Amino acid sequence: KKQYRIAVIPGDGIGKEVMPEGLRVLETAAKKHGVSLHFDHFDFSCWDYYEKHGQMMPDDWKEKIGKHDAIYFGAVGWPAKIPDHVSLWGSLIKFRREFDQYVNLRPVRLMPGVPSPLAGRKPGDIDFWVVRENTEGEYSSVGGRMFPETDREFVTQQTVMTRVGVDRILKFAFELAQSRPKKHLTSATKSNGISITMPYWDERVEAMAKKYPSVKWDKYHIDILTANFVLHPDWFDVVVGSNLFGDILSDLGPACTGTIGIAPSGNINPEGNFPSVFEPVHGSAPDIAGQGIANPIGAIWSGAMMLEHLGEKEAGKSIVDAIERTLAERTLRTRDLGGNADTTACGKAVAEMVD
Ligand code: NAD
Ligand code: IPM
Ligand code: MN
Repeated sequence: KKQYRIAVIPGDGIGKEVMPEGLRVLETAAKKHGVSLHFDHFDFSCWDYYEKHGQMMPDDWKEKIGKHDAIYFGAVGWPAKIPDHVSLWGSLIKFRREFDQYVNLRPVRLMPGVPSPLAGRKPGDIDFWVVRENTEGEYSSVGGRMFPETDREFVTQQTVMTRVGVDRILKFAFELAQSRPKKHLTSATKSNGISITMPYWDERVEAMAKKYPSVKWDKYHIDILTANFVLHPDWFDVVVGSNLFGDILSDLGPACTGTIGIAPSGNINPEGNFPSVFEPVHGSAPDIAGQGIANPIGAIWSGAMMLEHLGEKEAGKSIVDAIERTLAERTLRTRDLGGNADTTACGKAVAEMVD
């Protein structure tokens, strides 16, 4: 029987609190479905490691985690101690770029029983995927600061869109749309104001769409698109966006389903040349860290996505079903969803519901 080797990296803040619950549920689902998981735990990619070593990760981080079947990640960032761009570019963004995880796949789903902040919305009204470009775009290292500390000081940072980079994320998104009942794709743009890169993005969308005649597609400028997420979430099926737009949409979408605390993600290298990283969409939440009240569902659902990615569809689905059954009961929800369960109680409830 195949054994999957998983690298586990909890990171900072509530990453350390939600990961044990994710592992609890993964272990339960694996046992019930005859899947063999082996976990290797790593203590880097967090402030504690940086404090000791002066860097976020060991020099040989790629050798340490690059051969695993997948990486299960918590959250990173502790801005009181280390600037976010230093900790993030020293860890998570490195994984995404150096493991060529060019797809950031983020489902948005209103779960039964969970109140949406949008009046009158029920399950089924909000059920779409955000497909975020994850290796280039606005997140680029091209640019710099000139004439520092003088009146002439200025900074630039260029958006980079490569043809290969844009086409491969669009292809992934169109394929996903084609596989869904609604076969609908929305592209996030801003080609009215951002006059070089965004018209290029639109041009590539149009070219890719020709290869997927069964997919109905449309595009919105990012400003009105955010408004439409709130006013008409039922319009969306697959939403594809550049790195920054996808980032914004993948916090807004889950907020419309009650909380960002349940949102999962996969940073995926579809070719399988490198391991993919599965992590909740949320960050380390310093404002609630250490209190044991964080919602573990984002981490748990990310575990389910990881199993599905590994080909263990039934085990993955058993976790998503268990999440639905847990969230349907208010007393099992954490505070961000109006419940009073703590992190562990919620994680245990999901584990008990797995069948
Ligand atoms: P955040 O997602 O950590 O928190 C935003 C708000 O949502 C906070 O009020 C927090 O308490 C709440 N929240 C988040 N997750 C929750 C959960 N599971 N249960 C209940 N409430 C939850 O975003 P932020 O405050 O902008 O960033 C904090 C730190 O995390 C920064 O260092 C940031 O760079 C980092 N960050 C990391 C990731 C990541 O690792 N993928 C993602 C986002 C932010
Ligand atoms: C996310 C996060 C990261 C991003 C930050 C922490 C760099 O917000 O995973 O969505 O912008 O990608
Ligand atoms: Mn984000």
